[in-house]
Amino acid sequence: MLDFLREEEINENLIDEIEQFRKYYNVKPDLRYRIPNPKYNYYGKDIWEEAITVLLCGENLLLVGPKATGKNVLAENLAAAFQRPIWNISFHVNTDSSSLIGTDTFKNGEVVLRHGPIYECAIYGGFGVLDEINMAKNESIALLHATLDFRRIIDIPGYEKIPLDDATRFIATMNYGYAGTRELNEALASRFMVIQMPSISFANLKKLLRREFPNMKEEYIEQFAGLFKDIQKKSESSEISTKPLDLRGLISSIHLMDKGLDAFKALQMGITNKSFDSFEQQLVEDVIRLRIPEKLKRGEIFTD
Ligand SMILES: Nc1ncnc2c1ncn2[C@@H]1O[C@H](COP(=O)(O)OP(=O)(O)O)[C@@H](O)[C@H]1O
Ligand SMILES: [Mg+2]
Repeated sequence: MLDFLREEEINENLIDEIEQFRKYYNVKPDLRYRIPNPKYNYYGKDIWEEAITVLLCGENLLLVGPKATGKNVLAENLAAAFQRPIWNISFHVNTDSSSLIGTDTFKNGEVVLRHGPIYECAIYGGFGVLDEINMAKNESIALLHATLDFRRIIDIPGYEKIPLDDATRFIATMNYGYAGTRELNEALASRFMVIQMPSISFANLKKLLRREFPNMKEEYIEQFAGLFKDIQKKSESSEISTKPLDLRGLISSIHLMDKGLDAFKALQMGITNKSFDSFEQQLVEDVIRLRIPEKLKRGEIFTD
C-alpha cells in the first residue's frame, strides 16, 4: 500500500508518519486477519493527503458524496495503509445500541457481555467504518455521540465506561445528493472532519481500468472511461437519474465481456437495467451506442 502511495506521489512526510504510526501501534496477532488487503486502490492524491492528515491528527473522518465516489474503497485503503484492523458497521438495518456495543448472553449459566463491533473497535485500536451513518436511527445516535466524543470514552447509561484505544479511529460514509438520502444531524457532523468526495477524474478512471484489465486495448480504455463520464454528465444535468451511473456495474460488465459476452448485453446488465424506467433506459442505450458498437466482440476489446 505504501508503495502505491509513493507511486501516486503522496507527500513523503505523510508516508513517513504512517510508517511511524505502524511501528508505534501494534496489532494483536489474533486480529491481524482484520487488516484489509484491498482489491481496489483509491485514486486521488489530494483526497489521500487530506484523509491521512486527519487520521494522523487523531480526528474522525466523514466521507460525503454521491455513490461510487470510492468512499468505502478509500476507508478500506486507509485501514490498509495504517495497517489497522477494520470493523464495518452498517446502519442500513435497525441497528440499536446493544447490537453495536454488545448484548448480555447466557454462557454456561452465567450472564456475559458479547462484545459488539463498536466495543471491539474501541478497545483494540481498530478503524471503524460507520457506513451510511446518516441512516442511523435514533436508537443508535446517542451511542454514536458518545463514541465520537473528543473525550474518547464511551460513557452511556447502562453500560460500563469503554475507553478508546489511542489508535482507534472512526471513518463514516454518507451518500448524499440523490432522492431518499437523509441529512446528518448537526451534533454528529460536528464530531468529524468532512471530505466532500469528488467523482473520479477521467485520467484516474483510465488508470483504474488499466489496472483492473491489463489486457484491454487502449482504445477501449478510452471508450469505457468516456462512457462513464458521458453518463455522469447526463446525470448531473438531470436528464437521467443516478441509477445507471454505476462504476461497479461498468467494471462488472467489462468482466462479462472478458468472458465472451457481447458488450451491449453486458452493459445492459451492469448499467442500463439499473434504471427501471423504460424511457431512461432508452436514453442510456443511446449514450452507450455512441461509443460501443452493438455487436462488439471480445477480440476487439482485449489483446489476448
Ligand atoms: N477515486 C476512485 N479511486 C478508485 N476507485 C474508485 C474511485 N471512485 C470510484 N471508484 C470505484 O467505484 C466503485 C464503488 O466504490 P465504493 O467505495 O463502493 O463507492 P461508494 O462507497 O462511494 O459508493 C468501486 O469499484 C471503486 O473502485
Ligand atoms: Mg459505499
